[in-house]
Amino acid sequence: MKTIDLRSDTVTLPTKEMLEAIASAELGDDVSREDPTVNRLEQISADRFGKEAGLLVASGTAGNLISVMTHCRHGDEIYCESEAHIYYYEVGGMSAVAGVIPRLIKGNRGVYTSEQLEAHYRGREMHYPNPSLVAIENTHNRAGGCCWTPREVEEVGRAAHDRGMKVHIDGARIFNACVALDVSPEEYTKSVDSVTFCLSKGLSCPVGSVLVGDKEFIDRARKSRKILGGGMRQAGIIAAPGIVALETMIPRLREDHDNAKLLAKGLADMGLSIDMATVQTNIVVAETAPGKSAELISKAKRSGVLCSSFGRSLVRFVTHRGITEEDIEEVLERLKYH
Ligand SMILES: Cc1ncc(COP(=O)(O)O)c(C=O)c1O
Repeated sequence: MKTIDLRSDTVTLPTKEMLEAIASAELGDDVSREDPTVNRLEQISADRFGKEAGLLVASGTAGNLISVMTHCRHGDEIYCESEAHIYYYEVGGMSAVAGVIPRLIKGNRGVYTSEQLEAHYRGREMHYPNPSLVAIENTHNRAGGCCWTPREVEEVGRAAHDRGMKVHIDGARIFNACVALDVSPEEYTKSVDSVTFCLSKGLSCPVGSVLVGDKEFIDRARKSRKILGGGMRQAGIIAAPGIVALETMIPRLREDHDNAKLLAKGLADMGLSIDMATVQTNIVVAETAPGKSAELISKAKRSGVLCSSFGRSLVRFVTHRGITEEDIEEVLERLKYH
């Protein structure tokens, strides 16, 4: 029986074209900025987002942490959504390493408004930490892959800047949002200061993320990366598939979104509780009976379908390049009997 792996889009394997690009990549020592392939990926990334510069990092977590370290000083406060990845799943790195304290805003499907940001803002008073950064997650993982609209990003960006704060987007899956809303990354992120995006998720690269921002910020971020031991040598072998990903892999994300909708509808027809309005990209979060997520996950596993826990009563399914429409039909068939 074929295993159908819906745990994450991080399970995607590199394409043949990516492997060929790795084999023929022109390489150099990237710590000295001498790897032409890394330099090219960083410039292409910056251009896509209309920013001045880019920085290749090992992972989305590294990109977010380096951004926080670079934007903030120890003791500063960062505003983020209450279930944001940067707060929920990054091992507390923002506090443990960057020394900042989070101020949480409860969003609606992962999105909070400029009014909420204003209401949470306490000003620069003697007793409060210095508010220095606002983080947006787009798409929002725990909300089920929901997108911010360009207008929502712009309004929060303006409210933050009016209060002297910088804005970072954790855009691990921002290209999914760009495809879903048919908006360019440049237009989408014009009102923010930095963006991290992942090459290693739906775009199918084996490793890597890129942080983009203005030149002065990226120069400082390069030092933050070095402090963390993230300076890499012939990193062109990571950058080469990244270039292939940016040039060829984005439009196909639409297939993943269509498959996610098909899956969500089928699971809902089976009686699982799904907020269909959250199924905007490649993630489906289903609610089980209270405390029953582990049971569903192990039953699915016995039938060769892998999915992951999002809590005691929530299960996450993620579609990606390794999953076809026929696979989704097969998943629904197999789960029907459980
Ligand atoms: C929204 C979001 N941000 C950041 C990350 C971290 O990326 P990485 O696993 O490459 O560290 C993830 C990973 O799933 C994510 O979903």
